[in-house]
Amino acid sequence: MRALVVYESLWGNTAKVARAVAERLGGGMEVEVSDAGSAPATADGFDLLVVGGPTHAFSMSRPRTRADAVKSHGAPHEPDVGIREWLDRLAPAAAQIPAAVFDTRVDKPRLPGSAAKAARHELRSLGFDTGRKPRTFRVHGYEGPLLDGELEEAARWASEILDQLGTTPD
Ligand SMILES: Cc1cc2nc3c(=O)[nH]c(=O)nc-3n(C[C@H](O)[C@H](O)[C@H](O)COP(=O)(O)O)c2cc1C
Repeated sequence: MRALVVYESLWGNTAKVARAVAERLGGGMEVEVSDAGSAPATADGFDLLVVGGPTHAFSMSRPRTRADAVKSHGAPHEPDVGIREWLDRLAPAAAQIPAAVFDTRVDKPRLPGSAAKAARHELRSLGFDTGRKPRTFRVHGYEGPLLDGELEEAARWASEILDQLGTTPD
């Protein structure tokens, strides 16, 4: 069994969640983790796809919101390709590959809108099995850090996914 974990991250919070998920999935599957800029444009050959990104302006980031993050909020880098652009390039699923989505969002204030929900919508259109509920992990402010306990929650979420797939962790 093979899993592909694709993420986007400006300050590194979403990357940390992606790595925590990947590490736990690695107990039951072979895992490839990749940022959106270098991820393959097909999930064929994988048995699970996990996609995570930061919520920007109530949805997945755009070039404009990433530029704003750097210019106005001091983000350390501006990815050329976020999960939105990666999903635009992603080939339709040849089989109904299970896909799980997550995002990171500010803890306060609690705002509507979710990158994960938007990503799930795209994945469903591409023919992935998107039965699992999207998951949100919370950060302090725009730059983080993650709230205490979120990486443990991420690992727990990954265990649930393994259970659903019928894959027992080592
Ligand atoms: C331009 C911009 C817009 C944002 N919009 C939202 C938003 O609508 N809702 C929200 O909860 N967080 C919002 N945030 C906060 C991001 O979700 C936060 O920066 C992200 O979770 C940090 O993850 P990262 O370190 O992986 O980039 C926004 C951040 C930026 C830079």
